[in-house]
Amino acid sequence: MTKAAIIDGKAFAAGVRERVGKAVQELKDKHGITPGLAVVLVGEDPASQVYVRNKGKQTLEAGMESLEFKMPETTTQEDLLAKVHELNADPKVNGILVQLPLPKQIDESAVLAAINPDKDVDGFHVVNVGRLNTGSGDALVPCTPLGCLLMLRDHFGDLSGKNAVVVGRSNIVGKPMFNLLLQDSCTVTVAHSRTKDLPAVVREADIVVAAVGRPEMVKGDWIKPGAVVIDVGINRIEKPEGGTRLVGDVEFASAAENASAITPVPGGVGPMTIACLLRNTVTAACNQHGVDTPEM
Ligand code: GUN
Repeated sequence: MTKAAIIDGKAFAAGVRERVGKAVQELKDKHGITPGLAVVLVGEDPASQVYVRNKGKQTLEAGMESLEFKMPETTTQEDLLAKVHELNADPKVNGILVQLPLPKQIDESAVLAAINPDKDVDGFHVVNVGRLNTGSGDALVPCTPLGCLLMLRDHFGDLSGKNAVVVGRSNIVGKPMFNLLLQDSCTVTVAHSRTKDLPAVVREADIVVAAVGRPEMVKGDWIKPGAVVIDVGINRIEKPEGGTRLVGDVEFASAAENASAITPVPGGVGPMTIACLLRNTVTAACNQHGVDTPEM
């Protein structure tokens, strides 16, 4: 029996995309600006191909320009860096995303470092990491944690004083999530594989953000009654009867017994990532043109 409210990420993301679309229209009407997003895909990884296709489609639907560059699996680091430099210099391109993972001959960190930080709509460049960490206000923030923050703000209004536990310390989710929650005046704990008595740590949380990439690792009886659970995990597991299904990092059914609200998998955090990528592209375009960013 589910007691928790289900946070509908699919609907929430559709709302973000609609607001982004309105902001784009406003930029066109008032300033003659059409934001452009360039996505670079190296190789033929099937999951990456699906992501890139969805990004392109949703970019166009929001009224922005979408540029896609497909490069072969054998691309050298030098060739990819040349493409990044070309996009850095192109005034039509306001946002650059190099799809990860990259083939093994390419040094990922060198590629991310080559992207102009003001066009870094993934928010992975060390300059944006530093801006977020210092709260300088002009950071482009990684899309998945930004999506989690928007959903939490929508749910609570004010987050200040909440105890938040982030499970996972990755550069893409855990660490930026820590900074975002701290900036919203939560008391934040980042737990990870070496944390002692993880269940006890999670039991203190008003907000749990699970981002460990391990199927159903956070158990339902770790969730404090009334807590809000944001599940970033997307794990494909085998079903006992054959076939596969997607599960999060949280044991959904039992967590929903204790939580007051919880994101499902699929249909929770997942759809927010591309919606926030579009939002970041508009923010980047406004910053580059020196115009105010419309409400989104
Ligand atoms: N691969 C899977 N998700 C992402 C993402 O958010 N950004 C990039 N650059 N690559 C990814």
